[in-house]
Amino acid sequence: MLYSAANPEDESQHLLFHNQFVSAVKYVGWKKERILGEFPDGKIILVLPEDPKYALKKVEEIREMVDNDLGFQQVGTKCPSQTKTFLFITNDKKVAGCLIAEHINEGYRVIEEPEPEGSEREKVMFERQRAWCCSTTAEPALCGISRIWVVSMMRRRAIASRLVECLRNNFIFGSYLSKDEIAFSDPTPDGKLFATHYFGTSQFLVYNFVSGTHPKAPKTDSVMALDS
Ligand code: COA
Repeated sequence: MLYSAANPEDESQHLLFHNQFVSAVKYVGWKKERILGEFPDGKIILVLPEDPKYALKKVEEIREMVDNDLGFQQVGTKCPSQTKTFLFITNDKKVAGCLIAEHINEGYRVIEEPEPEGSEREKVMFERQRAWCCSTTAEPALCGISRIWVVSMMRRRAIASRLVECLRNNFIFGSYLSKDEIAFSDPTPDGKLFATHYFGTSQFLVYNFVSGTHPKAPKTDSVMALDS
């Protein structure tokens, strides 16, 4: 959070933000955890809508903090009673990553734009500034990634990749989701960079995006331009 230490209003906002963050990432542990994966640096647990209230309260706290961290109001989940929340918990009992997944029926493919040649830094700058487009033709999809977030100091340690792997293994009992069955809800620039790497293409599926055009309207090869 950017704030001015000299401004008392900013200071109190910062304190509020800090306290909310500290409380949200603190994980005391539950007797009945659904552990899906264990790693040298932590574990992944799954929280389902039918879980005890204390688990759902934690998930809600994390979701609020993630939405604040993203800095804008996210689209709510379509059917909260069917969401699956995957949490990455570090060995020192902190929530370092969160993936909220929901059932969807369709997604829209991002239209690839040529990336400039250059260093990763240049590509990241490009990604942060550009508007992007997706097809208006719906494609069948099963799983929507409504939120994916990793605490800033632990990014680029494959936590998001492990969360998505876990999701693919556990979203539908007995089946492993293919990459074409997953769509990202209105991805951020970080989300696009991650998804492009994970899916091995920038033409992955998206849904829930904020756009002036309704996705169902035109059925041609037209594209929708979306703000980054
Ligand atoms: N810039 C460039 N490439 C990136 C990237 C970034 N910010 N984040 C991920 N990647 C690519 C890299 O190729 C990376 O592999 P490498 O580190 O070996 O080069 C690969 O994706 C795998 O990344 P991973 O370490 O699994 O991702 P992560 O744990 O850092 O989490 C996000 C990725 C997007 C979840 C994280 O940056 C984040 O929480 N951002 C803020 C919240 C947000 O924007 N969420 C997306 C909502 S759609």
